[in-house]
Amino acid sequence: MTAEKIDGKAFAEVVRQQVTEHVTKLKADHGLTPGLAVVLVGEDPASEVYVRNKGRQTVEAGMQSFEHKLPADTPQSDLLAVVERLNTDPSVHGILVQLPLPDHIDEALVINAIAPEKDVDGFHISNVGLLGTGQKSMVPCTPLGCLMLLRDRLGSLSGKSAVVVGRSNIVGKPMANLLLRDSATVTIAHSRTKDIEALCRTADILVAAVGRPEMIKGDWVKPGAVVIDVGINRIDAPERGEGKTRLVGDVDYASAAEVAGAITPVPGGVGPMTIACLLANTVTACCRANGLPEPEGLTA
Ligand code: GUN
Repeated sequence: MTAEKIDGKAFAEVVRQQVTEHVTKLKADHGLTPGLAVVLVGEDPASEVYVRNKGRQTVEAGMQSFEHKLPADTPQSDLLAVVERLNTDPSVHGILVQLPLPDHIDEALVINAIAPEKDVDGFHISNVGLLGTGQKSMVPCTPLGCLMLLRDRLGSLSGKSAVVVGRSNIVGKPMANLLLRDSATVTIAHSRTKDIEALCRTADILVAAVGRPEMIKGDWVKPGAVVIDVGINRIDAPERGEGKTRLVGDVDYASAAEVAGAITPVPGGVGPMTIACLLANTVTACCRANGLPEPEGLTA
């Protein structure tokens, strides 16, 4: 079997289009413009690229973008003061504090200082708890993007066997909760899991989020399975010339694509969905803050 390639880039464009249409309606019918504030502490180049892309796509969707760039040695109390100001600013509906934060800052403290209804990352302990108990919450962007791709491909996930490889708070755990909420039978695998290959081979839905380049091989994949690769790893690519690198996922794409029914590529799979879902969450937050119906198809 040769797997169908799931085009996350095209799907993300559709989501962004839906977001843009909803923003246009919010402006026309209610005079509301959703606003997203992104806070970046320090000069990590990868984070700066993310933040720039987020800002550009926010504006392209017709929303307001607020960027707060703070120096790496910003005291924690100053960062908390910025978050507090954004919490009470009525033009800000979504707040994202870019992670990782410098070592002298307590990440959990800062995340939990964000007003839960503005926590478009879905990392606040209240949102984690709401998702874990199957209640309405803000849902982390990457797992939400994966869920949209899975629902699009499979329709109902009910009764499917799902294996999530990786137990991070950002992807693995919320992904498992979302799959469970859609009535899949879910197992989380991690570095201590025994015979992880055999476990993965039981999965109708295999989500890889471990950050280990090309760890999951074709013979770990059940024939016909849907494989979602969340990993983005930069590896050396001497075949492209000296000092060159390339991006790969956590799945060995070439061998897995021989066995799977459908698979996301890296790049161009899950990655573009993350920012699209961030925009969707910002619109959702704006609607909730104003007692308006939520955008259909853009929430979990
Ligand atoms: N750093 C890498 N990914 C993310 C994300 O999804 N949200 C935040 N806040 N920081 C990140």
